[in-house]
Amino acid sequence: MTTPRESLQIVFSRLPRWLRNSLRRTRWWLRWAKWRLLAHRGYPNPSLFINEGELLPQFREALRYLQEKMGAENIGDLLEFGVCQGTSLGLMYDELLDAGLNHVRLFGFDSFAGLPHDVEGEWEEGRFLAHWEDVVDSLDQQGIDWKRVSLVKGFYEDTLTEELIAELGLHKVSLIMIDCDLYSSAKEALDFCEPLILDEAVVFFDDWNPLAKANKGEKRAFDEFLQEHPEFEAVAVGVYDYTPGDQCGKVFRVSRARA
Ligand SMILES: C[S@@+](CC[C@H](N)C(=O)[O-])C[C@H]1O[C@@H](n2cnc3c(N)ncnc32)[C@H](O)[C@@H]1O
Repeated sequence: MTTPRESLQIVFSRLPRWLRNSLRRTRWWLRWAKWRLLAHRGYPNPSLFINEGELLPQFREALRYLQEKMGAENIGDLLEFGVCQGTSLGLMYDELLDAGLNHVRLFGFDSFAGLPHDVEGEWEEGRFLAHWEDVVDSLDQQGIDWKRVSLVKGFYEDTLTEELIAELGLHKVSLIMIDCDLYSSAKEALDFCEPLILDEAVVFFDDWNPLAKANKGEKRAFDEFLQEHPEFEAVAVGVYDYTPGDQCGKVFRVSRARA
């Protein structure tokens, strides 16, 4: 028996591609306008863990830069660490579609059981719990093409292995979204990405501040990563807010020196 939601999905999938894309775009613009209004008044949207209106221009700039630098056809995959409800993943997927980058695959990594224990004691264990089925369902409704998008469920210390790189057929990443809050998680994510940054990648840290001021969290992980890998050079190219003025997110271009 088909549920009303499934029937709607079937109808949506039968619409012409141009109409599906423009409906998707309209939905995102409406959400973006709502977010700008809330952000303008100083209120974060409590149902979202990212600020779409702030992230979007940074993401577009990253795509523009990568296309100019390496050519659209040479852009590698996008890896997101910290999928939770799938908001940023969905947003980035739509932007890739809009940019015509249909060959870029997206991989999302999350425990779907919330945050693990934080050795720095900053974050509560289990926070940001999102259920796998709900996230898949919500991305389904957005019209995600599962041939291009893969979600890997589990804690990074178990999942982020060399075997997984082979299993997923990962060769090159060009965009990395670190949205997993914790120092240890960000470090595990960066270590996993290291062999996949062949020439250059744009790396987003969605939770840079306020912990960066105490040299904790994602900044600590990135500093250690760069110390351990002097072959990489990082240049900060942007900041974005969650609540107005908090500069919660930071964007870097990371390039590997030629041998
Ligand atoms: C702030 S949420 C991500 C928000 C998401 N980008 C969005 O748009 O809704 C952080 C996520 O990181 C995940 N996470 C953090 N550390 C992890 C780890 N070591 N292993 C697996 N998942 C982890 C949590 O489960 C949580 O879903």
